[in-house]
Amino acid sequence: MTVTVLVIGATGKSGRPVVEALAARGVKVAAASRNPENEGSDSNVIPIRFDWADRATWAPALQGAEALYIVGPYAQPDGDALVADLLAEAHDARRVVLLSVIGAELLPTEAMMAHWERAVRASGKEWTILHPNWFFQNFGTSFASVLRDRGVLQLPAGDGAVSFVDTRDIAEVAAVALTEDGHAGQILTITGPESLTHQQALDILGEAAGRTLTYRAVTPQQAEENSRAAGASERTIVAQRGLFQVIRDGGNAPVTDVVQRLTGRAPRSLARYAAEHADVWAVTAAATAAE
Ligand SMILES: NC(=O)c1ccc[n+]([C@@H]2O[C@H](COP(=O)([O-])OP(=O)(O)OC[C@H]3O[C@@H](n4cnc5c(N)ncnc54)[C@H](OP(=O)(O)O)[C@@H]3O)[C@@H](O)[C@H]2O)c1
Repeated sequence: MTVTVLVIGATGKSGRPVVEALAARGVKVAAASRNPENEGSDSNVIPIRFDWADRATWAPALQGAEALYIVGPYAQPDGDALVADLLAEAHDARRVVLLSVIGAELLPTEAMMAHWERAVRASGKEWTILHPNWFFQNFGTSFASVLRDRGVLQLPAGDGAVSFVDTRDIAEVAAVALTEDGHAGQILTITGPESLTHQQALDILGEAAGRTLTYRAVTPQQAEENSRAAGASERTIVAQRGLFQVIRDGGNAPVTDVVQRLTGRAPRSLARYAAEHADVWAVTAAATAAE
């Protein structure tokens, strides 16, 4: 296997395990982000600088890349058109796998996914679009400090169930789609093995960490006020509104067999992820003192 895959977003929650899954298959990988990491010892992985906001970085990253894994420019104000522009420059790439999101077709255009999906489908390349559910890894990153310090997670998700998924499973599906035939023209909805409300998910994390973790449903209006106060753009606020509406409407609840079908094994459970990362949510001395 000599194919070179350019992984955009290679230091992120899905991109990092995509790099690892490809390297484990003996695939040469260009691992791209604004802050490429050089400490890796795998000679198949070449860190490379790539910035959606700096077009001078595109051509060197695309050079020789026969397949692309794209985490889109979700934080760029002009992000709608950038995936189409990149694909127009990706002359060596025969195949592209785009990270989108479950329920993308229900989201407002502010969420950008519809623009990227259209670009990929119109690119003339062999494309596969990934529709993963919410990542386990959010609990260990974006939500880690509130869970550790306050033991409470506030979201406008109502009681909607979510078949949360491990990004390592998303990555293994992506690696199959990037390196094997038979997945072109497909939209793959990638989920974990079970559908859980946020409180059920926090019960699993809390059991691993030896403490109580509580989900508090807030209204969409309250969540938006909080985001605005934290400096989020109106575009982000509209996109987030759509994402949580889909959860409340049940759109994140289905469980699919995509991980089993493409990788030959069952998706990882949240209990397994929780056991691996229990320290993240464990009570700290500072949190105890504050109680
Ligand atoms: N989180 C979820 O539960 C979830 C579920 C489904 C789909 N998604 C989708 O996944 C995508 C990623 O979201 P995430 O929050 O999970 O982020 P993430 O993958 O953890 O991180 C984003 C990655 O993109 C890179 N990046 C950011 N800005 C960049 C730029 N201007 N140019 C080049 N690279 C850049 C970052 O690296 P550097 O900072 O080093 O550049 C990082 O590697 C979004 O499109 C989101 O909608 C997320």
